[in-house]
Amino acid sequence: MGLIPAAPVHEFRPEGSGEGKHILILGAGLAGMAAGYELTKLGYNCTILEARDRVGGRCWSVRKGAVNEETGQGQHKAAFDEGLYFNAGPSRIPHHHGLTLHYCKELGVPIQVYNNVNENAYYFSEGKGPLSNRRIRVREVHNDMRGWMAELLAKGLDGGKVEMAMSREDTLKVIEYLRAEGGLDIDKLYKASARRGYIESPGPGDREGRLGDPLALAAMLQSGLLDPDFYNVAEYTYELQGTLFQAVGGMDRIAAAFQQRLGRLIHLNAEVSSIRNSDDGVKVVYRDGAGDKSLLADLCICTIPLPVLSNIDHNFSSDVSRAIDSVVYMNTGKIGLQFKRRFWEEDDGIYGGITHTNNQLTQLFYPSNDYLSGKGILIGYYNFNDKAVATGNLSYRQREELALDKGSQIHPQYRQEFETSFAVSWHKTKYSLGGWALYSPEERQSLYKPMLQPDRQVYFAGEHMTYLNAWMAGALESARSVVAALHSRVTGQRFSYPALGS
Ligand code: ALA
Repeated sequence: MGLIPAAPVHEFRPEGSGEGKHILILGAGLAGMAAGYELTKLGYNCTILEARDRVGGRCWSVRKGAVNEETGQGQHKAAFDEGLYFNAGPSRIPHHHGLTLHYCKELGVPIQVYNNVNENAYYFSEGKGPLSNRRIRVREVHNDMRGWMAELLAKGLDGGKVEMAMSREDTLKVIEYLRAEGGLDIDKLYKASARRGYIESPGPGDREGRLGDPLALAAMLQSGLLDPDFYNVAEYTYELQGTLFQAVGGMDRIAAAFQQRLGRLIHLNAEVSSIRNSDDGVKVVYRDGAGDKSLLADLCICTIPLPVLSNIDHNFSSDVSRAIDSVVYMNTGKIGLQFKRRFWEEDDGIYGGITHTNNQLTQLFYPSNDYLSGKGILIGYYNFNDKAVATGNLSYRQREELALDKGSQIHPQYRQEFETSFAVSWHKTKYSLGGWALYSPEERQSLYKPMLQPDRQVYFAGEHMTYLNAWMAGALESARSVVAALHSRVTGQRFSYPALGS
């Protein structure tokens, strides 16, 4: 009858109290902190151990003074100007990641729109075909491809060369659709239109605007612009479809907001060396500035990334132990490049979005904030797999040189405007050792499933414990899920998260 207000979608208020129970949480990334935050609300006594001198884990915005340590590389300190940053880990929040947005709201973290798709950014095919080493606006490739494909299909359907089980009337409707979709002319031919931009833009007086010629289909093909390097993933992929968001001032504002709520429950610089289930609880040994210490707790939530956990002494079951040692994580890296001025905006009209390449850089990300301000940091590469491994094998200096060398082919302003850089290879970064967990369907059964149950007193949480790998949403959803499981066990209630049907 409209008298009872609907519960907010992400309301999480289980009945019962956890008073008197001590929960030890390993890792002050988003999963560990969200778990601690919810458990504290339920009356539990929580301790969170974090190996790093900061919270957030992979949710890390690199600012002046930030330090990274990679295997075989030593330490690397960010020398960015005060107030500038880049998100070395998560940089975008899909609109359907409701729990992430919920926590932003609950914790008072302002968000802003993140521009993931920019038709005015570039495609750059290095060393391939007739369009090699030419920066081409995304809109030219997208619209020319769409146009050529539509023309091919429309001609085929019209001439009866493409057979479909359709009436002539329906075939004509498809052709009409293709004409609209591809921007074909009355003869169903693709010609240049304003969709692909102007070589001289319209203006006052007699300035009508001048269109360029479309790129030839064969040239695009031979230059690899139809290869996976240039797939239009930002529009196809569910996670990357707009609207996307980011936290104002850096994604680490989300981590900082949790930290503020949890305060002294978090022990930084506490590196876990042993996790042992026993009959009366769980015993964890850790090292901090003052030496080795141990803690006993009733229950434990372990959010340590699996490649890191693999090097820690434990007495988990053989199935869990095998999973910890076997799950493969993504090799991935980014570099932030600080420039004296935002030439990509001032000179190129690029406000956020991504330039794609087929070379080692893979992608350049332009910032979706502080437009037309003074200096700026853009992400000079964000790469994966073999390209990330090769980049990660370089010294920090060589990575900078690679980013500048290849980047300046796209943006000749680079050398003149560059100031300083900071590179992160997640698979080499201490306490992370990977970007995110990767599972094959078989591994979901053999490796993932055993970790979904607590190993006696120890629960596992983190993006690796979800089907939301590589997203903050994974960390947050898994935190809720283990808090629900743990609280059910302690209070003897039966409920699950997410609630059935949600
Ligand atoms: N979630 C990761 C990204 O946005 C993969 O790039």
